[in-house]
Parts: sequence; C-alpha cells; structure tokens
Amino acid sequence: MTYQKKKCWSILLRLYHWAFALSIVTLCITGFYIHGPWTNSMTEGSAGFPMAYARLIHFVAGYVFTSAVLARIFLYIFGNKQERILEHLPVTPRNIKNLFSTLLRYIYITDGHDTDRLGHNILAGMTYLIIIIAALFQLVSGFYLLYPEMAIWEGYGLAIFGSQQAARYIHHLIMWLFMIFAFIHVYLVIWNDVREPEGLVSSIFTGVKFTHKA
Ligand code: HEM
Ligand code: HEM
Repeated sequence: MTYQKKKCWSILLRLYHWAFALSIVTLCITGFYIHGPWTNSMTEGSAGFPMAYARLIHFVAGYVFTSAVLARIFLYIFGNKQERILEHLPVTPRNIKNLFSTLLRYIYITDGHDTDRLGHNILAGMTYLIIIIAALFQLVSGFYLLYPEMAIWEGYGLAIFGSQQAARYIHHLIMWLFMIFAFIHVYLVIWNDVREPEGLVSSIFTGVKFTHKA
C-alpha cells in the first residue's frame, strides 16, 4: 500500500499544543506545592524560599498557559480547515456519523476508520473544546487569585465564582480534570497510532499525517 503525506496542523497549532501541555504539567506540580507545601520551616524562609519559587514558576507558566489558550481560540476562527471549530463539532451529518463511528470503534464494536477525515475525530474535537472552556475558567480563577483587587479580575471573579475560597476550590478541581484528561488523551493518541498508519503521534510534532494514496 502506498501513502501520501498531507499537511494537517499549522505551526501555531503545534506550538500551542506543546506550550499548553508543558505549562499544564508545570502548573500541576507547582499547584500541588502551593496547595500543600512538603518542605518545613527549616527550609522555608531560612535555607531558601521554595514557596516563593513555586508561586513564581506557577505564575510564569500561567501566562504561557493563557497565551496558548488565546492562540487556540484564534485558530478556532482563523485556523486551517482541520483547526476551525465547526470541524470539531457534530454539526453536519458527516460529523455526526463520525461521532457514532468513533464511539463504536472505541468500544471495539466496529473497526472502521473515517479515512477521508484529516483532522480530529468528533469525540476528540468535542473533548478538546471542553478542555479549552475549562481552561478559560482556570485562568479567570487563577488571575482572580493573583490580582484579587484589580477591578477587572475582581469583577469577573466575584461574578463567576463568588468568594476567593470558592475560586480556589474550583481552580483545584479543574486541575484534576486536566490530569485525568492528560492520561486518557495520551492513552487514546497512542491507541489510535497503533491501529492506524497515519502517524498520529508524530503529527503533533511535524504537522503532517499519512493517508492512503488513492
Ligand atoms: C492548568 C492550569 C493550572 C493548574 C493545574 C493550577 C493549579 C493550581 C493549584 C492546585 C493551586 C493551589 C490551590 C489550592 O490551594 O488548592 C493553584 C493556586 C494558584 N494558581 Fe493555579 N493552576 C493553573 C493555572 C493558573 C493560572 C493560569 C493562573 C494565573 C496566573 C494561576 C494562578 C494561581 C494563583 C494566584 C494561585 C494561588 C497562589 C497562592 O495561594 O499563593 N493558576 N493553582
Ligand atoms: C506525550 C504527551 C502528548 C502527546 C504525544 C500528545 C499528542 C497529541 C496528538 C497526536 C494530538 C492530535 C490528536 C488528534 O488528532 O485528535 C493532540 C491534541 C491535543 N492535545 Fe496532546 N499530546 C500529549 C500531551 C498533552 C497534554 C499533557 C495535554 C493537556 C493536558 C494535551 C492536550 C491536547 C489538546 C487540547 C489537543 C487538541 C489540539 C487542538 O486544540 O486541536 N496533550 N495531542
């Protein structure tokens, strides 16, 4: 069988993916430290300042994360065909069909793969949109915690979350959503790559997928 290379992901999408993924790993580690510091007073404030560093790294990663989310929103509107929002949602008969065939495939009932679709399957696309929406809540709660008295963040924070403590709790819960997503995501990406010869994992580095040559 012969294959052809097809350009799928723009450089901005790939940069966003890795900025998003790496910042989330950093934010989870530093977030855990901020939540429950595992050093003691022999270290903190005398031999070093682990909490100050953890918070600094958290905020720097928070800005990277925010930039990545903004880049993704830009691509939902101005990206290539695979990157635009309507290509991710069950809004056309073709996409609805893809959603059901993906579900059946993931529970091992059928083996069919939608070969004329270059971008995400619809189940993946919908999940990614939910993650981006969760990311918006995460960054608004984060900036509310960071700048509680700045008019804009205080306004949004109070309107969406209420007290700072409620925002902190939701910020924490969304962290778990990201961690659970990341494990399932990496599993499914590898699972798909094993079953189909399109080179899914490398596509998020190279931007290229392989399709059957007609
Ligand atoms: C995936 C993204 C993120 C994750 C997983 C995450 C995780 C966490 C966690 C677990 C905490 C500790 C809260 C607790 O006590 O339970 C925290 C605190 C905090 N986060 Fe995030 N965070 C993320 C994004 C952000 C962003 C975008 C900002 C904005 C700059 C931000 C700002 C803060 C602030 C200001 C605190 C409170 C620090 C303190 O109390 O000293 N976070 N984060
Ligand atoms: C070793 C780690 C990872 C690999 C190999 C990987 C690989 C991939 C691949 C191949 C895709 C495209 C899949 C498709 O067509 O459906 C993708 C998309 C995506 N990944 Fe990852 N990923 C990794 C880690 C992460 C992490 C840690 C996160 C965030 C927690 C993440 C978030 C996303 C998102 C949101 C998309 C959708 C891209 C879009 O918005 O269009 N990935 N990833």
